[in-house]
Amino acid sequence: MLKSHPCGELRSTHIGQMVELAGWVHRLRDHGGLIFADLRDRSGIVQVVGDPSRSPSAHAALAEARAEYVIHVRGIVRRRPVGAENPNLPTGEIEVEAHEIRILNPSRPLPFSIDEDGRRIDETVRLRYRYLDLRRARMQRNLMLRHQATRVIRDYLDALGFIEVETPILIKSTPEGARDFIVPSRLHPGKFYALPQSPQQLKQLLMVAGVEKYYQIARCFRDEDLRGDRQPEFTQLDLEMSFVDREDILQIIEGLLIELVQRVTPHKRLRVPFPRLTYAEATARYGSDKPDLRFGMELVDLTDVFHDSGFEAFRAVVRSGGRVKALLAPGCASYSRREISELTTYVQSLGAKGLVTLSFTGDGVKGATAKFLTEGEQAVIAERTRAEPGDLICMVGDTSENVTKAMGGLRLLFRDRLRLADPDEFAFAWILEFPMFDWNEEEGRWEAMHHPFTSPMDEDLDRLETDPASVRAKSYDIVCNGYEIGGGSIRIHRRDVQERVFRLLGYSPEQAQSRFGHILEAFEFGAPPHGGIALGLDRLVMLLADEPNIREVIAFPKTSSAVDLLFNAPSEVDERQLGELHIRVVREL
Ligand code: AMO
Repeated sequence: MLKSHPCGELRSTHIGQMVELAGWVHRLRDHGGLIFADLRDRSGIVQVVGDPSRSPSAHAALAEARAEYVIHVRGIVRRRPVGAENPNLPTGEIEVEAHEIRILNPSRPLPFSIDEDGRRIDETVRLRYRYLDLRRARMQRNLMLRHQATRVIRDYLDALGFIEVETPILIKSTPEGARDFIVPSRLHPGKFYALPQSPQQLKQLLMVAGVEKYYQIARCFRDEDLRGDRQPEFTQLDLEMSFVDREDILQIIEGLLIELVQRVTPHKRLRVPFPRLTYAEATARYGSDKPDLRFGMELVDLTDVFHDSGFEAFRAVVRSGGRVKALLAPGCASYSRREISELTTYVQSLGAKGLVTLSFTGDGVKGATAKFLTEGEQAVIAERTRAEPGDLICMVGDTSENVTKAMGGLRLLFRDRLRLADPDEFAFAWILEFPMFDWNEEEGRWEAMHHPFTSPMDEDLDRLETDPASVRAKSYDIVCNGYEIGGGSIRIHRRDVQERVFRLLGYSPEQAQSRFGHILEAFEFGAPPHGGIALGLDRLVMLLADEPNIREVIAFPKTSSAVDLLFNAPSEVDERQLGELHIRVVREL
């Protein structure tokens, strides 16, 4: 080793010792005579002093050094002079008097400062020079936190008897609702592998194989539209168990998440046990199947109020089977016309036709719509929304789906504007009883809401063919602070039920056989009942690290257009490689 101690671990107990340090020059201050360098390595920062009267050569080397030069220092630890201590630095009581300094490698001037958290620097520049960006304290902390989180996960699951099994990356399509990334085969012209969207079928096959308790920190690949909490490749804590019911999985994951928060971010508040809501309840009360439960602001159903109302727009919505819902924005009655119009534009961007607002003044409601409402209607609205003087009542009338989306979005907008959510709280919750299927309007067919391997609820199985919309799934999501952290289900383990689901999803028996024959066949060989879950590790670490997007907790993430700016990938490959893969690129001019 080139160093006897990590820089950040030197303390007053080391005073008088000769030490060897190595790291990067973080900052330099030339006091005309003495030169002070903050020397940084992964452990932290220590001050090194170049004193020409003690060691002219060490002083000269420091004079030559610049920010981010890599240097090696031999020197004596000494107490800092009175008044020169730095209470903000763990090593702030001491400094190292340099006897010898070697420059191990110079550095070009940096494209950005790494002595700040990086939030103000253009992200494309950060990603282009990610190896420098990762040097900043915030990113080092995030890498460390992610490492700690995976360690806690592994220890916890190991203690419960889970074993970690790796599964292949070159595989066949595994439907999870996104497009596949495909890889051409050189040995089998015209054939392709698909990268797994998740190890879903593989972990189920491991259950058939008798593994009973499996987990994996698994890489998943999905070619989908990206957002702040999505990447084309991401990591799951993937888990599966045999001979379990829903409650077993919920308990194990709840225990794991509590352990994670207590060990990695003990300063955060946590409500246990985690509340449980059905999908129907979550969407009705919060307008979302991943509600942020750190604050109330529940949606209030006013549909019945408008059935015979003089307010034509809402009456028409209600009579054509739509809904009217309200939420109460406390203290916002004084919003200007411009502010209201911003809110309206926002709900319209979410698909709603418009927004109706009423200001509650104490002696009734005011607003352009108030004159269309009877006193009785006004009173019911005020009572149901529990309006206090000074509050703003926001209402949307539309199809049930549009109301949910608009009001769910508006609720989050007020969360941010009014700072309603405690940043130091993790409000985990379970969402249960999702519908089994979603109707895809464009393609005119049913889709699995979770994935096709999820078991329908026993009491709904009879209606699988006759009334698919009413069939609920044995699935569950874990959500936190408005994010979907994970999802899973109890699986189908019988061939006949799996075939019925495939049929409903529009696969002919031949298509089901060619795509999923392996798993259908496996179910004929004593497949145990089983279930599992996958947690999005990036999202979980993002929350633990208090970061606004998952790129901050991934060492080498891609941009929102799926580009790796450091490697400049994807990129072209040469003709020879393409030829070997039996591929010809057709360029559209
Ligand atoms: P699901 O598709 O719900 O379930 O994924 C599980 C969790 O993975 C995270 N996630 C993502 N994170 C980052 N970028 C993405 N593109 C992305 N997509 C998903 C989310 C999500 O909750 N095989 C099933 C699990 C199971 O049934 O056991 C599955 O993959 O946090």
